[in-house]
Amino acid sequence: MSKYYLTTPIYYVNAAPHIGHTYTTIAADAIKRLKRMQGYEPVILATGTDEHGQKIERAAAAAHKSAQKFTDLISNEFRQQWKTLDLQIDRFQRTTDPKHAKVVQGLFDRCLKSGYVYKGSYTGQYCVFDELYVSEAKPGDPCPDCGRPTETVTEENFYFKLSAFGDRLLKFYEDQPDFIQPESRRNEVIAFVKQGLKDVSISRTTIKWGIPVANESPHVFYVWFDALSTYLTAVGGAEAGEGLWPADLHLIGKEILRFHAVYWPAFLWAADLPLPKKLFAHGWLLFENDKMSKSKGNMVRATPIKEALGADALRYYLLREVVFGQDGNFSYDALVQRYNSDLANGLGNLATRTLAMIHQNYSGKVPSPGSSDMAGQAKTTVESTLAAYERLEFSKALETIWAFIGVLDRFIVERAPWNLAKSGDTAKLADTLYTAAEALRIVTALVYPVIPESAAKIWAQLGFRTPLDAIRTADLGWGKLAAGQEIEPASGVFPRADVKTMIEKMKEGEAAELVRQQTLMGVVPPPSAAAQAGAHITIDDFIKVDLRVGEVRTASAVKGADKLLHLTVDIGEPQPRSIVAGIALAYKPEALVGRKVVIVANLAPRKLRGLESQGMIVAASLEGGNPVLAGFLEDVPIGARLK
Ligand code: MSP
Repeated sequence: MSKYYLTTPIYYVNAAPHIGHTYTTIAADAIKRLKRMQGYEPVILATGTDEHGQKIERAAAAAHKSAQKFTDLISNEFRQQWKTLDLQIDRFQRTTDPKHAKVVQGLFDRCLKSGYVYKGSYTGQYCVFDELYVSEAKPGDPCPDCGRPTETVTEENFYFKLSAFGDRLLKFYEDQPDFIQPESRRNEVIAFVKQGLKDVSISRTTIKWGIPVANESPHVFYVWFDALSTYLTAVGGAEAGEGLWPADLHLIGKEILRFHAVYWPAFLWAADLPLPKKLFAHGWLLFENDKMSKSKGNMVRATPIKEALGADALRYYLLREVVFGQDGNFSYDALVQRYNSDLANGLGNLATRTLAMIHQNYSGKVPSPGSSDMAGQAKTTVESTLAAYERLEFSKALETIWAFIGVLDRFIVERAPWNLAKSGDTAKLADTLYTAAEALRIVTALVYPVIPESAAKIWAQLGFRTPLDAIRTADLGWGKLAAGQEIEPASGVFPRADVKTMIEKMKEGEAAELVRQQTLMGVVPPPSAAAQAGAHITIDDFIKVDLRVGEVRTASAVKGADKLLHLTVDIGEPQPRSIVAGIALAYKPEALVGRKVVIVANLAPRKLRGLESQGMIVAASLEGGNPVLAGFLEDVPIGARLK
């Protein structure tokens, strides 16, 4: 059977992974498992990190780290996140990998040779956040995509003749109607291309953090030229590679469709390389109906959910609740409700009931089938589910499977095997339990792409020794479960969750994970996060902090440390305190003398730059800005205690 190569976007490392990235990567993992089930071989899933460009350079600077150190750190966060969630990633490609630079250069050389690249100069507005020139914007205008202010830049760049590809693209979209999915997105792209395409700059001279264009210093490649090529690098390039190119599917979020549906095919055509087979742009995940963003502080991370409810609960929820391709909402409450109703009560209950009854009545051996006919319904379920999966309609596929679970539940209730056991109707009892077990086998295989860990557990409980991963769609026919197969003791795969406790647990975990990520990125966590984490302190804790009013007596610069000032502060003690404070960028020493400040007076003394610091001065700490000293509007005596 043929190979299947699919990719996720190559994620920027300016932020640590959150549930938006996880959403795409989980869907990709589900598709990978599905493709294997359909018999593709090998199925290769590539992801990676997009590590160049100004946005990353600035994020690194804000974290007081070198670009390389910073990208190492965050790239590793992505790698770990996928590992924690047990995602079957075959290739994790970083754009800072030296072998990637060769691929990017190779693509550029081919485009240059074919005459689609030329040198030109540009003055205009640039959005650093989106790494995008905004040709229609005037100085001071916001970016039309993200609303952030654009910056004026003048650069001599290498240009790619995108304008030459308009007609070819339109013809291609028409000839290959499945290339862009879903349909609505395809229409957007067609409308965009019909407006006419301008040439795009594919190098930068104002940025250092990028892949250098060979022999063309100071040009570095534009991040999107760099990033898109990653899909080639991950499989060893297009030509000499592993025979995996072209990709069969690029799975992306809707906001980066234009780069994939317009730029990427044009780059590949110019380089005379084959195009990917399909793009699927899914929608946005919102948090409680609001856009998730760092500034709103409403981002959610996957690890705390996995720790509380299991990775499958998250996978199931995301793929069942959100129609793939449309925007959808994330809410903790809906997550737990879905888990309880569909997993604990629905599938979980069917599995434990069926297995327990086989143990009770047949000492754990699957009984022989009888005359009941579930084969037809099973067959339709399998066909509709696989058809929905094929169209990436996860929600519909799961709905179909759960409708069948409903049928099975009703079947068991009607047959009432507990009564059959009592009345001694052994033939009917055997038939009922065989039917339930065989249907459970089929259901388990069908849900495997979405909830692999739980499905594998049920599979093992059904007594199968071969891994579920090896199942193929051909195995989904009715009657393949052998009578006499020994099953394992039934144990609940989805314990019921108490909604309130579970939500609290996930929120606590989220707050802790946020603090961990922010610490890693060198950002000071917002106080509300610590409070949410349940890290409340009592009044007794607070009283331990000795806060005093002090008056600055002397202030001077600290040699070799441009952020530090050395102060002496009178807090009513026989000797003024010697305090070293990181406020030199905000305050001139002479402006501080005589000023009343707040001091933490009982901190253990420590040495900074050879000077003893006997306390800390209290200031508002502003992200990306200078500190502002705490003070008083009314006059206060030196040495007064704050409480
Ligand atoms: N580096 C580029 C992609 C280059 S691909 C050659 C980039 N990176 S990103 O880190 O911003 O990732 C964007 C992708 O993350 C989206 O396309 C989507 O797959 C996923 N998501 C990030 N936030 C999301 C939501 N809130 N909801 C759904 N997915 C989103 O763009």
